[in-house]
Parts: sequence; C-alpha cells; structure tokens
Amino acid sequence: MLDAATSTGLCNDQAMLDDWYVVAYAREVTPGAIVPIRLLGRDLIAWREEDGTAHVWEDICIHRGARLSKGWITENAVVCPYHGWRYAGSAECVLIPAAPGQPIPPKARAFPIRSVEQDGFIWATLGAPAHQPPAFPERDVPGFRNFMAGPYLFRANGFRAVENFIDITHFPFVHAGVNGVASNPDVIPDYEVTRTDFGLKSSEIVVLQPVGDFRGVPVRAGYTYSTFRPLVAYFSKRLEIADPAQAALGSPGDRFTTFFTVQPIDEVTCIARVLFAINFAPHLTEADMQPRQDIVYGQDRDIVETQRPERIPTDLREEMHHRTDRLGVAYRRWLRELGISYGTV
Ligand code: FES
Ligand SMILES: [Fe+2]
Repeated sequence: MLDAATSTGLCNDQAMLDDWYVVAYAREVTPGAIVPIRLLGRDLIAWREEDGTAHVWEDICIHRGARLSKGWITENAVVCPYHGWRYAGSAECVLIPAAPGQPIPPKARAFPIRSVEQDGFIWATLGAPAHQPPAFPERDVPGFRNFMAGPYLFRANGFRAVENFIDITHFPFVHAGVNGVASNPDVIPDYEVTRTDFGLKSSEIVVLQPVGDFRGVPVRAGYTYSTFRPLVAYFSKRLEIADPAQAALGSPGDRFTTFFTVQPIDEVTCIARVLFAINFAPHLTEADMQPRQDIVYGQDRDIVETQRPERIPTDLREEMHHRTDRLGVAYRRWLRELGISYGTV
C-alpha cells in the first residue's frame, strides 16, 4: 500500500483497520464507471471489469499522484486523467501513452485494497481481518425477499449511528406516529443481552407501532437485535398485526429483518446502507418500501447528528446509562474491549 497520505485524518487504529466495511452497493459499481470512496480518512475507488470482477484501489496514481477517481475507463482499464497511464484489473500499468511499445517498468502499478462482494455490497478492508465480512442472516432463507435502502449520509459518528439503530426507547419520539406513539410511549421491560461469537444479541423486546411495517397497519413488534461487527448491526422483527379487524392480513411467522451497515468516512461522518428482508406482502416492491425507510433513517440521522460529543464515549462514567439502555451499554463496553480508539472518547 502506498504510504503517501491521500487525505487527512488517516486512521491508525489497528482494530478499525483490521475490519470489513461496506463501501458501496454492488449494483452501483457498473462496468465503465469509477466510484470514488472514502474510508477511515482514506480515498479509494471502486470499479468493475467487463467480466464482472470488482476492484477497490487507492485513489492515487503512482506516476505523479493524481487521483484516479477523476479518470475514466477505456478498454477495461482505469485511465489516469493526468498523463493517461492505463491500469488493468491486475493493477499493472498496461500503457504509458507517451512511450507506446516500450517496456513498462514493473513498479508502475495501482494499489489494490482487499475487497469482496457479498450480499449485494462491496466490502473493503484496509488491514488484515481475522474473519470474513458478516453474512446477512436471511441470505438463503426461503420465503424472504431482500431489498436495499439508502445510502444515508450521517454527518455523525458511525458508532453513534449504530447505537441509535439498536436503541428501542427513541421510537415514540424520533419516529412518532410510525414506530411509536409520543403520547403513549412503550414501557420497556428488562431484556437480556448476551455475548456471541461475533458480538452481541438481545432477547426480544416488544413495542407497539402505529405503522410498524410496509402494510400501513398497527403492529406489535418484537425486536431481537444483534451486532455482528462494531459497524454492522441487525434486527429481526416479529410482526403481529395489532388491529383485530385487520389481523387476517398477517400471519404469526411474519418477519421484517434489517442489516444495517456503516461506512466510516472519518471519525464524525459515515454512510449507512441498509439491506432488509420481508417474508410477507409479496406484492410490495422496493420502490413501495423505500419512502418509509427514507423517513425513518432520515429521522434517525437528524437526531444523531445533534449528539455531543460527536465521538462516542466508551467510558461508562460519561453520559448517563439507564436500565433500559442495556444494549447500548453492552455495545460501548464491547467497543472498549475491542480497544477501539478511532471515533471514540
Ligand atoms: S499522474 Fe497519473 S499518469 Fe501521470
Ligand atoms: Fe430510529
């Protein structure tokens, strides 16, 4: 990897470097396009060869340091916009236009970043994770249809965004009229949080939601949360239609699950991308469901962007923790145990 700083605010936190992050939707990285990406203060590009292979590289040309993201694709290769050097999928320079037909120095290469395509996302890492990217639990579960929502740019810390995603007591206020009722907030009973091989898992927490899913019906919703990585969280929501007159619309197995991924751009800016799945209402399309997702995640963004300090405190003496924040408390403890310093105070 090139040592030259391609940007400011570089991350030196090994725990963060040695992890996988979603950096793009697979479907936005199409052959012929160069997608600029910023991850942990570092500028990258993603592009796709005609055979479908996706690449993530540093956004820099070894010749004179120009940005490849300002270039273009010609003949299945990335063209640097400055002197036109061309880099093939192997990362080798295959053309120096000012000296065609002459040997190209082997050092003339792009700088690949480790990446994989999984569950409709491009995942990248700047380090050497000891594990694979977490898998979407409903990936191969019969009866579920998967959809994407976002991207949602949060001018906020990624851990604050994840903690909000796994926070149940904000529903009646931040999502009043959708996920809760401000005049009649849910009373949250004790619930359990357990450690798993991969992170944290809560027991089911039941709340009443006026518009708890995409059918526009009131539901009793049972949330079971997990964190798979510090910046990848998930819930499985059990849906029971709360209005007896409409109960026939649903069935006891109805589930709405959400895989919430966060790309840390820097310590106080992130992009959330959402993969969600339902096993009911087969007539609903992604376009039908996107507006509700945009409303809910927009409401979350608006509140999370106000939180101060911007970096999440992992010392539990900071801020104030209540019994009903058990999952958030476990999350902060876990971040601390992982030794994460980037984005925390
Ligand atoms: S800087 Fe890229 S070709 Fe010269
Ligand atoms: Fe929320």
